[in-house]
Amino acid sequence: MSNSSSKGTALITGASRGIGGVYADRLAKRGYDLILVARSEKPLKASAASLSSASGRLITPIVADINNKLDLAKVETKLKDDPGITMLVNNAGFASVAPLLDADIERMEEMIALNTIALTRLTYAAAPAFVKRGTGTIINIGSAAGISVEAMNGVYGASKAYVLAFSLSLQHELTSKGIRVQVVLPGRTATDGWDVAGLSWQQQPPSIVMPVEDMVDAALVGLDQG
Ligand SMILES: NC(=O)c1ccc[n+]([C@@H]2O[C@H](COP(=O)([O-])OP(=O)(O)OC[C@H]3O[C@@H](n4cnc5c(N)ncnc54)[C@H](OP(=O)(O)O)[C@@H]3O)[C@@H](O)[C@H]2O)c1
Repeated sequence: MSNSSSKGTALITGASRGIGGVYADRLAKRGYDLILVARSEKPLKASAASLSSASGRLITPIVADINNKLDLAKVETKLKDDPGITMLVNNAGFASVAPLLDADIERMEEMIALNTIALTRLTYAAAPAFVKRGTGTIINIGSAAGISVEAMNGVYGASKAYVLAFSLSLQHELTSKGIRVQVVLPGRTATDGWDVAGLSWQQQPPSIVMPVEDMVDAALVGLDQG
């Protein structure tokens, strides 16, 4: 087992692949221990094992559907009770390219719940503990679709507009208390998230889709620069 990290532990939702998977890799390389959250046990545990052997950091998987109240409560409790957690990356989310008239309302409600409610509850679980310790970082993954709402499904754009507004209010309220808050608004990024959305990234012009490593590395440079 690795020594506990001086950087502390980063909890990343949606960490088994895509953007969250690259955050996990980069934060482990930066010396964070990690708690990785996703629904599918096999890829999550495989990714935790490979990151642990590559980085020597302590990597703990939590299998949880954060759109399920009981599972979400498990993750909230971890954030409230584990004093080693110094960073929360609210990344789990999904998109859709379906126009309003073709979209399934049940699926839209699931999207609102994951992209906004789960993110909000996890922030509410982490923030008081971070404030008490006078330090902590919250990274919320929004989307360029949050300001360019015609680009994607309207509920997706609206959910990401919420993430932007909520994060700006967190910055306003928490920066003076020693908490870093970053909201990241990626453009089109090459991940399986596009298959979930209904249009794979391979079907789109390469000139408008960026590699996921570039996206995360750029966001981390932004974080470093404040
Ligand atoms: N890709 C882009 O172009 C792009 C652009 C802008 C913003 N974003 C945002 O970036 C974030 C990540 O997107 P991505 O493209 O990396 O997606 P992705 O490749 O589909 O990865 C999503 C991750 O979230 C997990 N996840 C999904 N639903 C979950 C749930 N209910 N509970 C717990 N974990 C869950 C998935 O694992 P399981 O399926 O095993 O749960 C997976 O690890 C999202 O918030 C998305 O809106 C993406």
